[in-house]
Amino acid sequence: MPDTLPFPARFGSNSGQPFTRRDGIAKVTGAATFAADNHPEHLLHAVYVPATIARGRVTQLDVAAAKAHPGVVEVITPDNCPPLPGDPQSKPFMFAFRFEALQDDTVRYANQPIALVLGETLEAATEGARLLNPRYTALPPRVGLDGAEPYKLEAGAFGGPGETVHGDIAAGHAAAAQAIDVTYETPEQYHNAMETHALVAQWDGDRLMLDIPSQAIAMSCAAYAFYLGIPPENVTIRSPYLGGGFGSKAVVNGPQVLAILAARMTGRPVKLMLRRDQMFGPTGHRGATRQRLRLGTDGAGKLTVLDHESLAVTSTFDDFVESAAFASQGLYAADALRSALYGVRVDIGTPGPMRAPGEASGSAALECAMDEMAEALGLDPLDFRLRNYADTEPGTGRPYSSKALRDCYAQGAERFGWAGRPRQPRQMTDENGCLVGWGMGSALFAAPMFTAQARAVLRPDGTGLVETAAADMGQGAWTALAQIAADGLGLPLDKVEFRSGHSDLPDGGVAGGSGHTATAGSALHAAGVEAVRRLAEIATADPASPLYGAGNASVVGRDGRLVLENDESRSESYAEIIARAGGAEIVGQGSAARSPEAAAGHAMYSHGAVFAEVKVDPALYQIRVSRLVGVFAAGRIINPRLAESQLMGGMIWGLSFALHEEARMDARTGRVINADLAGYHIPVNADVQGLEVLTVHEDDPHVNALGIKGVGEIGITGTVGAIGNAIWHATGTRVRRFPIRIEDLL
Ligand code: MOS
Repeated sequence: MPDTLPFPARFGSNSGQPFTRRDGIAKVTGAATFAADNHPEHLLHAVYVPATIARGRVTQLDVAAAKAHPGVVEVITPDNCPPLPGDPQSKPFMFAFRFEALQDDTVRYANQPIALVLGETLEAATEGARLLNPRYTALPPRVGLDGAEPYKLEAGAFGGPGETVHGDIAAGHAAAAQAIDVTYETPEQYHNAMETHALVAQWDGDRLMLDIPSQAIAMSCAAYAFYLGIPPENVTIRSPYLGGGFGSKAVVNGPQVLAILAARMTGRPVKLMLRRDQMFGPTGHRGATRQRLRLGTDGAGKLTVLDHESLAVTSTFDDFVESAAFASQGLYAADALRSALYGVRVDIGTPGPMRAPGEASGSAALECAMDEMAEALGLDPLDFRLRNYADTEPGTGRPYSSKALRDCYAQGAERFGWAGRPRQPRQMTDENGCLVGWGMGSALFAAPMFTAQARAVLRPDGTGLVETAAADMGQGAWTALAQIAADGLGLPLDKVEFRSGHSDLPDGGVAGGSGHTATAGSALHAAGVEAVRRLAEIATADPASPLYGAGNASVVGRDGRLVLENDESRSESYAEIIARAGGAEIVGQGSAARSPEAAAGHAMYSHGAVFAEVKVDPALYQIRVSRLVGVFAAGRIINPRLAESQLMGGMIWGLSFALHEEARMDARTGRVINADLAGYHIPVNADVQGLEVLTVHEDDPHVNALGIKGVGEIGITGTVGAIGNAIWHATGTRVRRFPIRIEDLL
């Protein structure tokens, strides 16, 4: 990873440094407390009882047998489950998903809750759950992309449009000298965070304390308060660490709410930790897609039309779909551009946001279709992309806030050796006789900002304290955000205490959409700057200070001192200034949000280019990804080590998408048959060979004051297509369904 450019002085010197994770030692020594590590006194253990059918009704549960088992304290079923004050079928806010909470005996998907058993021990509750022996009347489940009639979506996954058209699609098709019409399929995938969904719920009167991993602490407080009919300030969430989230821990779901109800019913703290297999249903997933891409080009290889439709599964009771078609909106210049979403309602838990939702599946199909179009034109795939390079956002014509994608292409191609690629497939072999193929893909992910607040304190001893309820899913928020905060305060990182992961702190926003560092970081920085500004006001008005009369605009905070920018001989330590002023803490508040004007003025994305080499055994067709080079431009990189780690993780997920991950549905039962980490394949170390990540620096004055974009999700995009294209280049076989398997190449 190349060095990033030095941070300008006013940003301080903490950002840009590759600090190791501040929570690393706590995690590897087991000192870090995850939700299920909490054991309050009088704790009851809850065991979740999931439906084993996908459609029908529960007709019988042997509640008496379960309750008769020693140690079983309570069995909650629709017969005794208290109604929720807030309707779980209503959608009171964005990001609200409908869920099942034992409101009736209907089964709408496999693994939906049908009961919750509470025991003095986990063993007792587990046995009680087994004794329930549910009976059903089952209907044949509707499964998969052909399970029901498609319908056209009016709104996409996050309330965006269900269809977007720019230009004249018919004219674009008519003007095409060359055209392709290809259909790709992507599978159902499940988040499979290492830490399954877990919580400990405790009531004190009408106050609720939750130990629960949350990607969105303040939003979750509001949601639980709504469903439970209590004021939001009565909900406390402690979420210092998450064992992964990937989108699934940003939303409220049925099992969690049931455990909270159980604690209220019994008057005792309740712990629930879902088993791995129970996560395949009630906690979200990436829905399967079928995507039709129609591309047309003129004689010069320029796109006259890019028409992208996607069909995706959703549940019978909610509307979230993987918005795959919208991956085509931001990347390539085309005279006419259309993205349209269709859904199909089947008997499945509602899909949800999962790591690059929409873009991951959409980019996989788009980047392969671009490769197919290049092949049809007889063009090098990178050359074809450069001919269609968008200098303004396609469709809207908005300028990009920054876009160093050309540099990503150039550096990636150079690093990879792309110039030596033969255009025809099946041209290269390695020393073992394996077929070798090279492919590439463009990477794109939006650079959003959400809203967040933060508080910063300069203490009398010259150290700092910063607070925001951010979420660290493992991505390094504890470290990167503290670096930004320390810069805001003008202090070295080790002089700053960072408090986070608790709902008593200012709202740190959502750890999602690859916008957490930009959002929470901006709020923290602003809070620190405000505290320093207040200190400067005191110093410059104090005749005893060397900074007296300087005017605080020319004073900066650096290494715990206020310094006059143009005359560094005039400076004073924070501690001295505070002591003379009476020793009270200096507090600054900060907030972050992108103004609607800023959002309207520029298209804001992170960009990248991924190059893949695969080796395919000519007899067995075993596929190995032997090299992956990803070059990304994502604004200012706060911590190169953590950013590289995020991008690398994304690329490995891309590899997983291309070759491994798929939840297989049994069409007879509507159940996922590989609902465990033995059958649900993800790459292991041996699958990940030469993997290189580089970043290209961008100065982006528009995304936010700090110039931060996101690195969390973009690594998946581009990588899937690059690997699919490399497999074609190695074998001459174009596989239009992911994951690509040995049998697809035979
Ligand atoms: Mo995510 S799907 O923004 O955690």
